[in-house]
Amino acid sequence: MRASYISRKVAALKPSGIRKFFDIAATMKDVISLGIGEPDFTTPPRILEAGIRSLQNGETHYTSNAGLSELRQSIAAHLEVHYGVRYDPDSEIVITVGGSEALYLAFTALLDPGDEVVILTPCFVSYQAGVLLADGVPVEVACTMENNFDLDPAAVRAAITPRTKAILVGYPNNPTGAVASRQRLEEIVRIAQEHDLIIISDEIYDRLVYGLPHVCVPALPGAKERTILVGAFSKDYAMTGWRIGYCAGPKEIMQALVRVHQYTIMCAPTTAQAAAITALRECDEDVMEMRQEYDRRRKLIVSGLNQIGLPTFEPKGAFYAFPKISDVGLDDEAFANRLLQEEHVAVVPGSAFGAGGEGFVRCSYATAYEKIEEALRRMEKFVNRL
Ligand SMILES: Cc1ncc(COP(=O)(O)O)c(C=O)c1O
Repeated sequence: MRASYISRKVAALKPSGIRKFFDIAATMKDVISLGIGEPDFTTPPRILEAGIRSLQNGETHYTSNAGLSELRQSIAAHLEVHYGVRYDPDSEIVITVGGSEALYLAFTALLDPGDEVVILTPCFVSYQAGVLLADGVPVEVACTMENNFDLDPAAVRAAITPRTKAILVGYPNNPTGAVASRQRLEEIVRIAQEHDLIIISDEIYDRLVYGLPHVCVPALPGAKERTILVGAFSKDYAMTGWRIGYCAGPKEIMQALVRVHQYTIMCAPTTAQAAAITALRECDEDVMEMRQEYDRRRKLIVSGLNQIGLPTFEPKGAFYAFPKISDVGLDDEAFANRLLQEEHVAVVPGSAFGAGGEGFVRCSYATAYEKIEEALRRMEKFVNRL
């Protein structure tokens, strides 16, 4: 008998640092979770109704591999209206199973063994694992709180080697809540042009920015022809469980992505595709309302954490605060563990998000205002005791 049937590649993957805390929190009563990276809102009623209507109309079959034409047209219209970037819905947009599948397709279609992807960290936990599963090599470039977690073009430049194939940026950022400045993103485009690289831009929180416009990377000069834009309905429209997203990019790359998609997934869920059309066409106001509520909570949590003595950068997007906890004398794993055990508040250790996350914890404010108030009270007790 073999020692293990599991491939070396998969066996070497670290379990997600987020999942571990979910599992512990699920066994405890009275936990306030600031650990979850998804909206606490239910999907807006009009979207729910569109999904139900689609099922009742008997739309229970596969769609084309690239997804419903009407949805691709709606996404193209959305990207043009909001960001002034034009995509051909027939050849430049592919509907996917959430942003996750869009990322998987991008890595699988682009990478040969040993190809490097420069990843700005701290970042969404799947980026490094996704690159490794596609036989690529993740090269982390850490962003710092001193720099407002904005990207550092000089550090990106220094990380480029002859094996670099792509740069992966994700703004608004999970876990820091940072939004990259237009000027620095333009610099990334220039670097990509100089070294003939692809940019993968994960913009799934594009509608959740506070007090400033979202910068859509492919809309920047010279970017569209070398960018894979990753989008999703999960966060902006509170549709995580529907599993629906998309990618947009140059035709040849989208054809390669569809090739992978057709052999692995076939097509994104038909019901979710129908619902997503309604999301784009009719639910702008719902998004604005949710955003307003997130903004209220954002202000509460940022000022609350700073008052407790945990220095917290003001996040400009998504729904995460990323306080620095290293001054209290615990590392981020120990801080999160003890906070959960002693005060029943779940947060995620920053080191789960790659280089630069050590010494921080991620607090999601996609939870009710009153719960955040209580969580802050508990955290204050905890910190004062240390
Ligand atoms: C930055 C980022 N990208 C992608 C995803 C995956 O999104 P989806 O649920 O649409 O697959 C997440 C989920 O947390 C995320 O935070």
